[in-house]
Amino acid sequence: MKRIFLMAAAGLMTLSALAQPQLSKDNIDEVLAAMTLQEKATLLVGGARAAIVNGVTSGTAHQVPGAAGNTRPIERLGIPGTVLADGPAGLRISPTREGVSQTFYCTGFPVGTLLASSWDTALVEEVTNAMGEEVHEYGVDVLLAPGMNIHRNPLCGRNFEYFSEDPLLSGKMAAAYVRGIQKNDVGTSIKHYAANNQETNRNENDARVSERALREIYLKNFEIAVKESAPWTVMSSYNQLNGEYTQQKKDLLTTILRDEWGYKGIVMTDWGNKAGTVKSAWSGNDLMEPGNQNEIDRIIAGVQDGSLDIKDVDRNVRRMLEYIVKTPSFKKYKFSNKPDLKAHAAVARRAAGEAMVLLRNEGVLPLKGGQKMALYGVSALDFVAGGTGSGDVNKAYVVNMEDAMTAAGFTLDKNLSDYYKSFIAYDKAQQALSGAVSNWFSRRKLAEIAIPENAIQTEARDNDVAVIVLGRNAGEGADRKMIDDFELTNVERDLVRNVSTAFHAQGKKVIVVLNVGGVIETNSWKNLVDAILLPWSPGQEGANAVADVLTGKVNPSGKLPMTFPVNFMDHPSSANFPFNYTRPQNNGYSFGRGPQQPVKDVDYTEYKEGIYVGYRYFSTAGVQVSYPFGYGLSYTSFSYSKPSVKATADGFTATVTVTNTGAVAGKEVVELYVTAPEAGLAKPACELKAFAKTRELKPGESQTLTMTVRNYDIASFNEANSAWEAPAGVYAVHFASNVEDVRASAVYTLRKAQSWKTNNLFELNVPLEEITVTRK
Ligand code: BGC
Repeated sequence: MKRIFLMAAAGLMTLSALAQPQLSKDNIDEVLAAMTLQEKATLLVGGARAAIVNGVTSGTAHQVPGAAGNTRPIERLGIPGTVLADGPAGLRISPTREGVSQTFYCTGFPVGTLLASSWDTALVEEVTNAMGEEVHEYGVDVLLAPGMNIHRNPLCGRNFEYFSEDPLLSGKMAAAYVRGIQKNDVGTSIKHYAANNQETNRNENDARVSERALREIYLKNFEIAVKESAPWTVMSSYNQLNGEYTQQKKDLLTTILRDEWGYKGIVMTDWGNKAGTVKSAWSGNDLMEPGNQNEIDRIIAGVQDGSLDIKDVDRNVRRMLEYIVKTPSFKKYKFSNKPDLKAHAAVARRAAGEAMVLLRNEGVLPLKGGQKMALYGVSALDFVAGGTGSGDVNKAYVVNMEDAMTAAGFTLDKNLSDYYKSFIAYDKAQQALSGAVSNWFSRRKLAEIAIPENAIQTEARDNDVAVIVLGRNAGEGADRKMIDDFELTNVERDLVRNVSTAFHAQGKKVIVVLNVGGVIETNSWKNLVDAILLPWSPGQEGANAVADVLTGKVNPSGKLPMTFPVNFMDHPSSANFPFNYTRPQNNGYSFGRGPQQPVKDVDYTEYKEGIYVGYRYFSTAGVQVSYPFGYGLSYTSFSYSKPSVKATADGFTATVTVTNTGAVAGKEVVELYVTAPEAGLAKPACELKAFAKTRELKPGESQTLTMTVRNYDIASFNEANSAWEAPAGVYAVHFASNVEDVRASAVYTLRKAQSWKTNNLFELNVPLEEITVTRK
């Protein structure tokens, strides 16, 4: 006992005899020099708590209850702990605290996919500026957002958090998102870097992707975000990429991210504790989250046994210190715990209305107020504001469609409303009785219920219009399924058909509202109804925003950030995606290593479609879709005129004049697609290279939009030469309303071929045969 005391005292004396500089933004070198190995290792590992849910850590950081993680303080050197919290549809912290009467709710903003549907970077920046105020005022340093993986397949369970199937749109949205948050002196974490395009077995799945597809699609969006917004942090993903965990992949984390793109911030792991901490630190993964003592031990042991160079540790620690001095925790910011939730609710409503996509409108919208409305679908009451998992915000309330339509002046069919309310109460009672609990990964979504046909007849007679809300929940930890999720269930099909038949027989209209987190099948039923509005999961005020659009208070101007295919299997990635996988019970397989024999699309996924993701495939192969990429209607119409392209020193500027030719004010998104000459590498029929949105134009009013494209942006990646290459020739430049609706064109002539060398990196260690797609 005495001996232990003496040893401890000696240790303390040694420590106190060390230099004790207090961290400031000007003495990082000095502080680094004063740190012990133990302290350095401690700074590279989060200060976890660890409730284990399905093998994934989650829980509470000490400073802000409900925050996902933190970094550890080293008080001796004046290094504070910092707080990291999810993201992305708003700040996620616990809304209540033990012994405290105040609440700590955050605003549930529109999900990432809806923000991207706005195609409006200024709007996204405004939304995230409001979100960032909540981060700052609730004492959090970094928002773990935005999520920005590419929508490779419609069924990825986290697509709702992500932006688009197109890397340019995704990258521009992410950059705007980051700028808005970081204006508040707090940080972001762009995630999940990279190729985390499915949730099935996400911790172990090996994404096998060609270097070209990586560089042009799965990394391009991150490249844009890094270069255009300087996020404080990047989160490496759980999965493997071409045989290595991304958090241990030096070519990804250092050579590309830092050496090629010039990234200056820190990289943190996604929330796990993988063996191989030494390799992660060596690769340039600075911070292990949520952090565990054995990771500290591994770093120390690595330095001691020579497997980890102290220079690599010092490099990571320096980056951590550079991060820490920027944080509000370091600056001792006195946060109020009182963000302006009321003002932010208004921002959330306006943004949701501006961004939602009108898919169909056969002479019914906007609706006149004061009508009698039959409101169908359990989701009208059980409205889906956001997704589940870490992206689920603890909001104070969610407006449902019944409240929103009533507030907008409609009289709702009471019998129908009572029927749904009784069902929801019954379901809740049944859940309570059976002891079922919703956990972090799954909030139960009520299944749709049938409405007797004779009741629909009566409702069609008694009401002026029908609105059917179809809902879907999606979230972290599982992918969606093709049957009964991508496709409508039989009950939903019957509902759409029977309501349409009955209302149309009375000369009345039917509107469908798609309250979904990801793409669903529309082709088989869309012609049965008169209008389809797609608000995605629009946040706590989303139902009010739906009412704003249905009544014409807001003229819709959102456009699809992905393709709606006719059939799920039409997607080129569907043949290599776990669309029907059900995890075997009780073996934790979804989050652990698989059986001996690797299972296709579970243990590994081959990205055989290569660069032909989304519209790049559909438009090149000439495959018919239900709604094309970039599609969205308005209550007015626009004409495009005076298309022009002018060469600049390093590319071109493209201008076009947009005129509102209809009867109401509205905004238009112009999409700029480029068709490359048939030279060099095979290329898609066209690729989005820029976009712009008009201000609200009054009837008859015009605006000239200018878009800039660099030669680098029109280059493709040539693996054989490890270079981006833009062949000389004539490039067709299309000004389009969606990828299938080109309104005006011009040409850009590149006189001399250009190329940009990169490092030679992604040697695939597995054979990958990509599909060949030829331009139709
Ligand atoms: C998710 C991340 C999230 C983290 C912290 C992980 O399971 O993949 O997106 O930021 O948890 O909650």
